[in-house]
Amino acid sequence: MTSTVPPMVSGGYPVVGHLFEMLRDRESLFKRGYAEHGDVFTMKLGPQQVAVITGADYNQEMYTQTDKALNMQDGYSFLKESIGEVLFTASKEAYYNQRPALMQVFRRERMVDYIQAMNIEVQRWLDSLGQMGEVDITQAMLHLTQAVAGRAFIGPDYEEELGPEFWEHYGAISASLDPVLPPNLPLPKFRRRDQAKKKINEKLNSLIQKRREHPEQYDDLITTLLTTPLKDGSILPDDTIVTMFMGLIFAGHETTAGQAAWLIALLLQHPDYLDLVKTEIHEHVTYGQPIDAGVLHDLTHIYYAIDETTRMRPSADTQIRTVEAPIMIGEYEIPVGWRMMVSSATSHFKTDVFENPYEFDPLRYSPERGEGKNPFAIVGFGGGIHKCTGMNFAKNEMAVITSLFFQQFQAELLSDDIQVVSGNGANHPSEVRVRYQRKPLSKLTDANTIREGVEGGCPHMQQHAATEAATEQE
Ligand code: HEM
Repeated sequence: MTSTVPPMVSGGYPVVGHLFEMLRDRESLFKRGYAEHGDVFTMKLGPQQVAVITGADYNQEMYTQTDKALNMQDGYSFLKESIGEVLFTASKEAYYNQRPALMQVFRRERMVDYIQAMNIEVQRWLDSLGQMGEVDITQAMLHLTQAVAGRAFIGPDYEEELGPEFWEHYGAISASLDPVLPPNLPLPKFRRRDQAKKKINEKLNSLIQKRREHPEQYDDLITTLLTTPLKDGSILPDDTIVTMFMGLIFAGHETTAGQAAWLIALLLQHPDYLDLVKTEIHEHVTYGQPIDAGVLHDLTHIYYAIDETTRMRPSADTQIRTVEAPIMIGEYEIPVGWRMMVSSATSHFKTDVFENPYEFDPLRYSPERGEGKNPFAIVGFGGGIHKCTGMNFAKNEMAVITSLFFQQFQAELLSDDIQVVSGNGANHPSEVRVRYQRKPLSKLTDANTIREGVEGGCPHMQQHAATEAATEQE
């Protein structure tokens, strides 16, 4: 039997094929291809043929063939100019050599410190909100996730160490990402990217030098990267530490911000489920005490909601590979030189896997219902060897944000038509405008604890009490 390539999705134009539709609205493109041809179809991005696949079995094939018949790096080559050659943009050899350093950054014991950093920064954000007001959660999450990354990866002095311009420079790099244009065209956005990279390199190199001179004073990401032997026994050179840092920020910042904003929006849109979450918070999260790994372990409804957000509104809605050896997907053979993409727009809504897939229904992940158990059914964090190394970091961060926000505030969603905004780094929601009101301290804890907290110097309880007193006086 001779095998054939998958059938072509309708639409597309001469020369460019489906490129512009892919950039503008890939969700509709993927859904159309699925409706026309089922789990495997072809689209054309300019001259490039791409096989788009759906469903756990084919997704698994793509993830497990990565670094064998499939190459991960080529698809992300548009990132190289911005973040350098590291992680998913590095060669296979370099990636496996650097992997011990990556594993060290996310080892279990480190998570304890990361969760502490999350508590501090989320509480600082909440303290800054005042007694009542309105906030765009989409924007707020971008800032909050920066602060969490700064404290978790650089330490308590991150603001001073990174300086106020760091995130501006990072923004210029992120805004320059372009999967279509050659990265060295003389365009203003590429010039701004190159200036920003220079500044960030200078800054991070100075932080590396400080840690190299006084390693005993630091216990942070840079020190971990400076001291962890790679597979070949060598240590990461300084310029790779800079790119690793930037790669991790790129992988984790906008992705987490977008998904955290969707999580809050979806919870506010589904008050019945939010009530379950609030009950769980009331039972397990003690006001004034940090949320630790033990508390997080008890928050099942929040984690179901996080999984449901990943399914319905993934920040990373597709991933791409290049075919290096012919690979069979069902009855089709995908030839060398083609690309392959997973599609959350279709995989996450398969009716034979998810009951009423277009409904927000986090309880589908409860043990009684057990939906989405197959690790390849939901691809929002990827799969296989390259599955998101920061997944637990991101999920814990979202859990801490949700717990402390709904513990301390009443919130009402004002935006009524929230749309997915596609980005090159990650998708995020359009504005999520929320009106909030701080809950009175007396509703959060008893009078003794408030007095002890305020007298004992607990900064956020002092802040909370002061804000309340000021409001009463007004
Ligand atoms: C909601 C937030 C996040 C989402 C949706 C997300 C999504 C993903 C996805 C889909 C991949 C696989 C890419 C592929 O197979 O082509 C990935 C890989 C990766 N992510 Fe995340 N990510 C998130 C947060 C984070 C965070 C917070 C970090 C670190 C601080 C991080 C670090 C990484 C790294 C290092 C990889 C590459 C793993 C490897 O190649 O072995 N991610 N992420």
